[in-house]
Order: sequence, then C-alpha cells, then structure tokens
Amino acid sequence: MLARSMVALVFALVCGFLASAAVAQDTPGDPAIAEDRDGKYFDADGTPTFKFENGEVDWYTFSGYRRYHAACHVCHGPDGLGSSYAPALAHSLERLDYAHFLAVVAGGRENVSSSQKNVMPSFGTNPNVMCYIDDIYVYLRARAQGDLPRGRPPKKEKKPESFMKAENDCLGT
Ligand code: HEC
Repeated sequence: MLARSMVALVFALVCGFLASAAVAQDTPGDPAIAEDRDGKYFDADGTPTFKFENGEVDWYTFSGYRRYHAACHVCHGPDGLGSSYAPALAHSLERLDYAHFLAVVAGGRENVSSSQKNVMPSFGTNPNVMCYIDDIYVYLRARAQGDLPRGRPPKKEKKPESFMKAENDCLGT
C-alpha cells in the first residue's frame, strides 16, 4: 500500500528541487556538515549529507547502504561500483547533484542512443525506495565524496527518534 502523503511529498520534493536546479549548480557542493537535525545531517546548501568520523557513519548512511543493496545493486553493482548494465553511482555522485539524483530515481531514464537498450526503472511510486531516498543519496554521496570504504559500515550512530517517525509517516504504518 502506498501512502498518499508519500506521493505528495515525493512530488513536491522533485518539483521543488527541479525548479531550484534550473538556477543552481548541477554538481554536488561541499559535503561538510553544516547542520545536525536529530542525527540527520545537512550541508551548507541544505542538502542531506553524510557523517563519517573515526570509522563510524550516521544512521542514514547505514540505512542507505542497506536500501541500496536491496533495490539498486542488482543493476548498479555492489558498493555503487557499477556493472556492464548500469553506471557506477559512487562516481556519478561526484557530478550529479541531489535534484538530478531525485529526478532520475523518481522518473527513471532510458538510454536510447546506444545500440544496447539500458533502462533505469522509475521508482517514484515505490515506498521501499522513495521513503529512504535521502538515505540512499547520503550513502552514495559518502562513497563518492567521503572516502567511505566498500562493504557494510562496521560502526553506526544509533537510530534517531525522528527517523522512526518519518519512516512510519512515509510508509503509512
Ligand atoms: C533494472 C536495472 C536498474 C535498477 C534496479 C536501478 N537502476 Fe539506476 N540506472 C540503470 C541504468 C541502465 C542507468 C543508465 C540509464 C541511462 O544511460 O540513461 C541508470 C542510471 C541511474 C542514475 C543516473 C546515473 C548517471 O550517471 O547519470 C541514477 C542516479 C540511478 N540510476 C540511481 C538508481 C538508484 C538509486 C537505484 C535503486 C533505488 C537504481 N538506480 C536502480 C538501471 C537500474
């Protein structure tokens, strides 16, 4: 079951960010943390970012690691390293900003120019992806911009209260 609030949220997110992306840069900025909202971290642009200190990641980055490997790695390879079918997202996020990332994941994309037809499916109505899209983003951002090593992060911050609330609201549970 898809919670209606989630659809509205995703729609607003994508529209809002696409609108701002028209004027803003389209490469991710400095990933340094400017703000900590109950264990969810944001950079100076207000874009979600990761925390990776002394081998420990924030909860969202850890959650993103799990969600990525549940939904994306079949095509994009383990640890965001890519495959013969789909690009290495650990490198894509060196140049792809948050708005474009959201737009591709929500809307999908089809490569029609190559002889091989590679399809990025649309996940816009999939709560198991869209409810965790910031998590997946910060995980891949940590791989692209934060020297996060391959594999399951061994240490993580504890799960924030606000994560559980947002998760329940989004999934409609
Ligand atoms: C069925 C295979 C498949 C799955 C599953 C998949 N993707 Fe993709 N994805 C692709 C292909 C193929 C492309 C390249 C499309 C193109 O060339 O236009 C792509 C492109 C992308 C891009 C653009 C990359 C760039 O360098 O411009 C992003 C971002 C992306 N995928 C994110 C995700 C995320 C996040 C998930 C998991 C929620 C995911 N994908 C799951 C096949 C897949």
